[in-house]
Amino acid sequence: MRLLVTGGAGYVGSVCAARLVESGHEVVVLDDLSTGHADAVPDGARLVEAGIDDAIGGVLAEGVGGAGFDGVLHFAAKSLVGESMQDPAKYWQGNVVTSLRLLDAMREHGTPRLVFSSTAATYGEPERVPIAETAPTRPTNTYGATKLAIDHAITSYAAAHGLAAVSLRYFNVAGAYGRFGERHGVETHLIPIVLQVASGRRERVQVYGDDWPTQDGTCVRDYIHVVDLADAHLRALEHAAAGEHRIYNLGNGLGFSVKQVIDACREVTGHPIPADVAPRRAGDPAVLVAGSEKARTELGWKPERVDLTGIVRDAWNFTTDRDEETRAGRVW
Ligand code: UFG
Repeated sequence: MRLLVTGGAGYVGSVCAARLVESGHEVVVLDDLSTGHADAVPDGARLVEAGIDDAIGGVLAEGVGGAGFDGVLHFAAKSLVGESMQDPAKYWQGNVVTSLRLLDAMREHGTPRLVFSSTAATYGEPERVPIAETAPTRPTNTYGATKLAIDHAITSYAAAHGLAAVSLRYFNVAGAYGRFGERHGVETHLIPIVLQVASGRRERVQVYGDDWPTQDGTCVRDYIHVVDLADAHLRALEHAAAGEHRIYNLGNGLGFSVKQVIDACREVTGHPIPADVAPRRAGDPAVLVAGSEKARTELGWKPERVDLTGIVRDAWNFTTDRDEETRAGRVW
């Protein structure tokens, strides 16, 4: 297929773009590089360095060699939960308004398929875990609210205009795929933060609360390997059906506590990784674990890289490879 990948220079977008290219698809990446990196765009994909707001009409009109795109994978987004509470306009504008622009441009140019990066944050504090797609959506932060608003818009565009759409609700994405991995300017995610301690970039890690109603008192999350996540996108593209908007949770279905994550990082890196207990972080639910039965049944998807140590090892290999390249002056 001829595919447009928005945000394909970011963490999840670049891994997906790499897997799409390897699977024989023709890939154009549209990314303004506000948080992504040009060198994260895989060989074989063409980078258009621009924002959706400015460029989407022209990019869809041009397609690949004049032929229109068969689909769009829409990763480009603002995705810091804390920032979304302090600067909501950036999220309503940057996520919702921009996604509406994309939907309208796709309609205008007759682009038939969309795979959208939604999030577990659309559910908010769960009543029940594992969380099914039928669970109530009551986001507790602006980031989740904007992603939910886009999901609603996609539902009505699919019904009214025949778009074939799939939203994938990611739980905690982790790991790396060779030279494609997580490198955010502002790092807020647990695994990369813990690995920063092991690589000497940070002194200690803070554990946000050890008095949660969980087995060891720390929060439990569902860590899904980024390659498993990317593979679900390929399946979603194949299964998207005209006029339908399907929504799938993507997680391992396994929960790991913050303490277990830190222990896995200690095991993989051989570093003691000093940790302190800090106050709870506002807005954190105690346990978030995905029920991914629907993706398994309908997409034929199954996470293959469910072992926490393996997930951490891939992230660590990415970190150390990059450090070596940086020291050798060959930064990529
Ligand atoms: N944590 C710490 N110390 C840190 C960083 C995180 O103890 O320095 C804890 C958090 O409190 C949480 C767990 O580690 O319990 C995981 O935190 P992350 O920030 O890595 O991930 P979240 O579960 O908060 O967020 C993820 C995604 C969001 C998404 C959310 C859905 O990163 O984009 O799941 O609920 F919105």
